[in-house]
Amino acid sequence: MLDEKACASSRILVAPSILSANFGRLQEEVNAIQNAGADWLHIDVMDGHFVPNFSFGWVVLQNLQTTLPLDIHLMVQNVPFFVEHFVPFAPLYISFHIETENHPRRVIAQLRKAGISPAIALCPQTSLESLEYLIEEIDMVLLMSVEPGFGGQKLLPIVLRKAERLKKILEMRNPSCKIQMDGGIHNENIESIKNAGVDVVVAGSYVFHANDYRKAISSLQV
Ligand code: DX5
Ligand code: ZN
Repeated sequence: MLDEKACASSRILVAPSILSANFGRLQEEVNAIQNAGADWLHIDVMDGHFVPNFSFGWVVLQNLQTTLPLDIHLMVQNVPFFVEHFVPFAPLYISFHIETENHPRRVIAQLRKAGISPAIALCPQTSLESLEYLIEEIDMVLLMSVEPGFGGQKLLPIVLRKAERLKKILEMRNPSCKIQMDGGIHNENIESIKNAGVDVVVAGSYVFHANDYRKAISSLQV
């Protein structure tokens, strides 16, 4: 007999990254992707230390209007400092990189206390073993499918195998924990990403460089 639960699969959620938006008219860009059916808004924060690029800090959110849930991806050193400044924007998730944080449990507690879902991000080469003693404590794992720092790179297919292995681990240890994939995602690799067990995708250049945002977003909501 078929296991109904195993067969039921919900559609992929899409979180466009404003990193690829036109910052000269950021509010219009955010309105446009909201109207085009985006699920979340992905905010890529880069400090020029953890990654060789600088994007923006919390100031960019100060006057930005959106009803989309905020999904903040911190690519920074000194994670607790940044968390403190993003808490007032009441994001749904904040993800931080395990590679840069010596005391991830403290950050998880800081996020829980603020009512924010904690997520841990892993660079492509970082092993799933790094989650061994934390996996039950987080609500999402962000798998980088490119080296963090820049939009517009090509997805590393090896990360699909990593997602498959993570999915198996989560089924046993934290079934409600989501898998997010970030980097190089478009309409031609979305099926294999979904088949690997991914729940949420981040898409920067594919969405923001498209002529039709709605068409681009819906092509990923498989
Ligand atoms: C890269 C960022 C990504 C990036 C994705 O460090 O975390 O969110 O903006 O951009 P694309 O979809 O262009 O690879
Ligand atoms: Zn990101």
